[in-house]
Amino acid sequence: MRMYDLIEKKKTGNELSAEEIRWMIASYTNGEIPDYQMSAMTMAICFRGLNEKETLALTLEMRDSGDCLDLSGIEGIKADKHSTGGVGDKTSLALAPIIAALGIPMAKMSGRGLGHTGGTIDKLECFPGFTTSLGREEFIRNVNTIKIAIAGQTANLAPADKKLYALRDVTATVDQKSLIASSIMSKKLASGSDLIVLDVKTGSGAFMKERKEAEALAEEMVRIGTGAGRKTAAVITDMDQPLGNAVGNSLEVIEAIDALSGKGPADFMEVVYALGSKILTLAGAAENEADARQKMEECIALGAAKQKLAELVAAQGGDASYVFDTDRFERAAIRTEVCAPQDGYVQGIEAKEIGTACMMLGGGRRTKEDAIDPAVGIYLLKKKGDFVKKGEPAAIVYANDPKKGDAAVRQVLNAYRFGVKKPDPVPMIKAVIDGVAKSGAPQRIGL
Ligand code: URA
Repeated sequence: MRMYDLIEKKKTGNELSAEEIRWMIASYTNGEIPDYQMSAMTMAICFRGLNEKETLALTLEMRDSGDCLDLSGIEGIKADKHSTGGVGDKTSLALAPIIAALGIPMAKMSGRGLGHTGGTIDKLECFPGFTTSLGREEFIRNVNTIKIAIAGQTANLAPADKKLYALRDVTATVDQKSLIASSIMSKKLASGSDLIVLDVKTGSGAFMKERKEAEALAEEMVRIGTGAGRKTAAVITDMDQPLGNAVGNSLEVIEAIDALSGKGPADFMEVVYALGSKILTLAGAAENEADARQKMEECIALGAAKQKLAELVAAQGGDASYVFDTDRFERAAIRTEVCAPQDGYVQGIEAKEIGTACMMLGGGRRTKEDAIDPAVGIYLLKKKGDFVKKGEPAAIVYANDPKKGDAAVRQVLNAYRFGVKKPDPVPMIKAVIDGVAKSGAPQRIGL
């Protein structure tokens, strides 16, 4: 086989066979196919697309390019959750302990944040001593004993995707639906869980700005998951403004702990409950959405979910006392109020601007090598639809560097839009995509 012929084939709009995709991925991963040929291929895919068969074949080849976690040593249906990334998205920190406290094993692989979006690992590392570098045995033992473990991705998880994603990143070929879907799903499938629930974000702070694009991506991922024999569903959720009120690592951990104490912001809880309902119903632990929601609410009210978070933190080397005393988290030295320049309703808050402001404060990474300052961030006192008086604080910036703090105050103010008319409320859940149809075709339940 020659890569030249495969590029030509895709360029002219023809289907690549599973065998050709297998050869291409194996040869690219072992260095036989150079980057310049692979970038010509990814660009041809951007223009010509991949059909369902090609996308599934690509995903499975990337999955099989490295280690696939065998979780058969864990009893019960193992659940995983993935978010396509957003600002203030601390959902896993609240959701995973709730699900585990309800008896469903959460075997979760998480990543670090890059750019304007945060990562679960960076947030968990706000607990002093917490580690996500778990060996396979320890990961399985923790899920078996306390029903929950959250680990960083091992270096050899879908290495073909790692190489291809880095190439796409520098050749303007990231934003192709089938390439994104196969990239995310290759890692999720290699992580070994039986049930995958995807939180696909849409809006200004998301990868997929338009709802239709987010739905198409979700359908593709659900099709891959079900095609590979996993129970898979996706929930399309709003990312037009940051989720909840807290943006920044420690601030977000505190907000997640508040949520497990029954004091979570309404928009955040809506996302937690929607994703949790999907997991619990697919796992057979709840009869329907109402039943699932009642179970989750009870679990929070009884303190079981918060206790589960403390168990997770302790099992992975962290100081669990922080779960019960959030004043112990490190605070930033400078606290500045961002005041409204006029009376009016908040019309919107550009999520990406807030995420970037947090990154510039030191709360996120510009490059993979950057260190994180866990204490800095932004607390949004007012969200879309709230009324604010001129001079009243709309947000608070937490900084450790005065110059960065001043710049963040200006950026946060720019992210807010004020106006006289009260805007319509934002539905947090835009659609649910289920992979249960017999035909294998995802079913969209538009909301
Ligand atoms: N996240 C991934 O893991 N892969 C993509 O292609 C895009 C986002």
